[in-house]
Amino acid sequence: MSRIRLGVNIDHVATVRNARGGDMPDPLRAALLAEQAGADGITAHLREDRRHIRDEDIAGLKAQLKIPLNLEMAATDEMLAIALKHRPHAACIVPEKREERTTEGGIDCISQFARLKPIVAALSDAGIRVSMFIEPDRKQIDAARNLGAPVIELHTGAYANAAGEARRAILKHIHNGAAFGAELGLEIHAGHGLTYDNVAPIAAIAQIRELNIGHFLIGEAIFTGLAAAIAGMRRRMDEARSEGDSPPAQRSGGPLRVPNAASLDERPEEAHIKK
Ligand code: PXP
Repeated sequence: MSRIRLGVNIDHVATVRNARGGDMPDPLRAALLAEQAGADGITAHLREDRRHIRDEDIAGLKAQLKIPLNLEMAATDEMLAIALKHRPHAACIVPEKREERTTEGGIDCISQFARLKPIVAALSDAGIRVSMFIEPDRKQIDAARNLGAPVIELHTGAYANAAGEARRAILKHIHNGAAFGAELGLEIHAGHGLTYDNVAPIAAIAQIRELNIGHFLIGEAIFTGLAAAIAGMRRRMDEARSEGDSPPAQRSGGPLRVPNAASLDERPEEAHIKK
C-alpha cells in the first residue's frame, strides 16, 4: 500500500498564543519543528474571526516552510484574495460558522455549487491544489468532482465522536466514500478528531493518501514534545498501512495491530497502557 502523508495542523499553537495576546508560543516555530520531525505538510486555518491563525502567520509559513502549506479557508472573497496573495501549495475549502467551536461538518457542495465553482476555478488557475472538506457522501463527492477540485478531504469528526457499532458504520461509510472518490479520479484525504486511539482504521483505508491532524498532536505535545507526538502518530499510521498489506497469518503481534473494525472497541485508556 502506498505511504500515507501526515499534514500537521498548527492552529492550536496559535490558540495558546492568543490566550495571552503576545507572540508565544509561535506557530511558525511549531511548523518548522514539525517539518524537522517528519511532517509531510503543514495545515493552518485562517478563520474569519482570526481566533487562532492570523494573516502574518500565513505569510511566515509560506516564506519559511520547505514542505507544502495547506491553507484551510472558507469560501469567501476575503479568503480567496488572501490565498491568491500567498499562493499556498493547497487550499482546503471548509464551511465556517462564527459560533462553532471547530469545523462541525463538511461543506455542502450541492447547495453551494454556484458560489463554490468560481472560487475553485480561481484557486486552480493560480496553481493551488484545491480540496473540498466534505462528508463521505456519494452525492457530495460527485459534486466536489464536478466543481473541478482534484482532492477531497473526508470529514472524520463523526467517526471520532462515535463509539462501537455507530463508529463501525461511519467507518464503513468513509471507506465506501474513499473508494468511490478514488474511482472518480479524486485524491482522497481525511481528517478531524483523529488521535492515537482512532487513527489506525482510517490510515488503513488504501485510497486515503493524506491525513490532517491538529488538536490531538498539539495536546499530546504538552506531555511528550511535538516531535515525539508526530513520531507516535507517524508510527501508528505506518503500522496500520503495513497491516493492510500483509495477509493475516504474517502480521506481527505488536501493540499497534488495530486497523480493523474490531479494534474500534478498544478503550483509550487501554491503548495508553500499551504505548
Ligand atoms: N481537516 C480540516 C479540514 C479541519 O478543518 C481540521 C480542523 O481545523 C482538521 C483537519 C484537523 O482536525 P483536528 O484538529 O481535530 O485534528
